[in-house]
Amino acid sequence: MRTIRFGTSDISNGLLILVNSSHPIKRDIPKKELAPTRSDTSDILLERQTVKMLSKITTLLRCENEIIPVSGYRNMLEQRTIYMNSLRENGYDFTQKYVAVPGCSEHQTGLAIDLAKNGDSIDFIRPDFPYTGICMRFRELSIRYGFIERYPAGRERITQISHEPWHFRYVGYPHSEIMKNGFLTLEEYITYLKQFPYRGSHMRFKDYRCDFEIFYISLHEGREGAIEIPNNIFYRISGNNEDGVVITLWKKRL
Ligand code: DAL
Ligand code: ZN
Repeated sequence: MRTIRFGTSDISNGLLILVNSSHPIKRDIPKKELAPTRSDTSDILLERQTVKMLSKITTLLRCENEIIPVSGYRNMLEQRTIYMNSLRENGYDFTQKYVAVPGCSEHQTGLAIDLAKNGDSIDFIRPDFPYTGICMRFRELSIRYGFIERYPAGRERITQISHEPWHFRYVGYPHSEIMKNGFLTLEEYITYLKQFPYRGSHMRFKDYRCDFEIFYISLHEGREGAIEIPNNIFYRISGNNEDGVVITLWKKRL
């Protein structure tokens, strides 16, 4: 057996962190954890695992020329500049629909990417990413690689952001698949996961390769903790940026 240790600092780190207007980002991603989305567009950065998964999809679909990264990681100053420029150019109503308040943008995590269908002019705030053709194929395949469409239509009251067909968030597999199957936004999924505490029944999910086991550990009041898992199991730990951590166990089927 081996030991997974966790503490309060883990709450604000990991692929499942919820970042929205009531959950500001609490940790700046270190530069060394970021990488360019493509070797030829080195000014657009993302968290390293996110880049890896994004390029797997792009390679499989051979869509490098058709799907263009528009905006990835933004630091606080960049988000502030985008927000202020949008306020000036588009007004308050538009800005609060489409631009997160500085400190509350998923782009500051390095786990979010805005994508555009290549065209003559690409809108920086609302790029075109239709539900047809290559963009739709990207959208469908991306679930398998751990991405979700973060701001779906009809869920604006939950996400507090308008429908954004172009904004993808890396949460990791199988969470992307579970969320898609259950029509859950990240806000809803983070709440749902609390029904599966460590000392209770765990969530189970199967695909053709693996049995997954997922559970939540509350870390109220600065608690620290540790659990034991078998040696041969791959695991991931992520904070929820609220009050605890989520552990995902991957058990390969023989
Ligand atoms: N467009 C998204 C909501 C952002 O600014 O983070
Ligand atoms: Zn975005």
